[in-house]
Order: sequence, then C-alpha cells, then structure tokens
Amino acid sequence: MTFEGTEGAGKSTLIREVAARLQEQGYAVTLTREPGGSPVAERIRAVILEEPMDPWAELFLYEAARAEHLARTVRPALALGHVVLCDRFSDSSLAYQAHARGLPWPKVKALNQAATQGLAPDMTVLLDIDPAVGLRRARDPNRFEDEGVEFQKKVRSGFLKSRREEPRRWFTVRAESGTPAQLAEKVLREFHQRSSQSSRKRASRG
Ligand code: TYD
Repeated sequence: MTFEGTEGAGKSTLIREVAARLQEQGYAVTLTREPGGSPVAERIRAVILEEPMDPWAELFLYEAARAEHLARTVRPALALGHVVLCDRFSDSSLAYQAHARGLPWPKVKALNQAATQGLAPDMTVLLDIDPAVGLRRARDPNRFEDEGVEFQKKVRSGFLKSRREEPRRWFTVRAESGTPAQLAEKVLREFHQRSSQSSRKRASRG
C-alpha cells in the first residue's frame, strides 16, 4: 500500500496510525518511504534534498533510489508476507517530475517501469487536501515547499491524472474529513475489503 499527497496533508501521521493498527490486528508490517527506505537510497535522498538540480538528474536519482529500495527492503518484506506501507512511490515521480516540473509523462512512466520492474502497489491512498491549506499546515519546510501553492496545485493535479489512468488502484481520503484515527479507520476498512475480495478471487480460481 502506498500513500501519496501534497505537502501538509498529514501523510506521515496517517501512515504511522495505519501501521500501528495493522500491527495490533496481528499483521507483520514494513513501514518505509521514498526517496529512501534502504541505506543507499537514504544517501541518495540526502543528495536530492540538499539542493536544486536539473530535473532529469533529479528523476534519475529518484529512480535509482527506488530500484535500490525495492531490492533491499520492499521485495524481501513482501517475500516474508509483510504488508508494506510506503510513504510516496512512483506516482510521486509522475506528479512532481512529470506533471509539475514538466518532464514528459510517458518517459517518467517508462523509467518508473524500469526501476520497479513492474512491481506496483495493490492500493494507493491519496490523502487529498486543498494545497493552500496544506502549505499552511506544513511544519517542516524544505525546498519543495518553498515553491508555493501554484506548484502544489500542479502536483495535486498530477496525482489526479494518475488516478484517472488507474482509478481502481486509488483510494482517496480527504484530509479535512476527520481526525488521524478516523482517516486511518477509513483506510483500514478499504484495505480489508480489498484483501477479502482478492482472496475470494484466488479461491474461485482454485
Ligand atoms: P519529504 O520531506 O519526505 O516530503 P513529504 O513529507 O511531503 O513526503 O520529501 C520528499 C520530497 O520528494 C517531496 O517533496 C516529494 C518529492 N518526491 C519527488 O519529487 N519525486 C519522487 O519520486 C518522490 C518519491 C518524492
């Protein structure tokens, strides 16, 4: 399960809440993030967040970090039967590098595909917020947040474009629609519903 959203939506709080509840329910959970989530990928993250750079260079670094993160952290966790929760994933490259920074969408998609070798989340949560409200709420300013509300609006419409392309993968929660505990509850209900649907499908295939 991946979590996406613009700045200040409360994604990190939500993901921690969802992880804690799944663990209480007896699931083995791996909670991770992009860029980062493995030793090399965390070093690449530090380079990316340090200073602005050419958008293509930035994209390649995100994809390099992603390939490494999948190899070292995500695939091994999935092999152990863990539920993997990831704070941002390839939809962020589409929303930020393609839609907001202007790199061609199909090329970013192709690089996502190369980095992931087709491994895709079975559910992506969009924690949606009015970008202006989000920016006011963001307490940890970094260089991306400096780019202001117009940039965040583009990022948001990038997520919506991804969602239009694959509506079934996405589950949207409005950040203003409840406390973190209530939002986590909504996500978990959807997760359980989807899990029971896919196990019924597996059973009927035999
Ligand atoms: P972070 O401080 O983790 O932001 P957040 O808490 O909002 O997730 O910084 C990650 C930044 O990297 C964030 O601004 C989004 C950006 N990003 C991309 O531009 N492309 C990507 O592929 C990924 C994974 C992240």
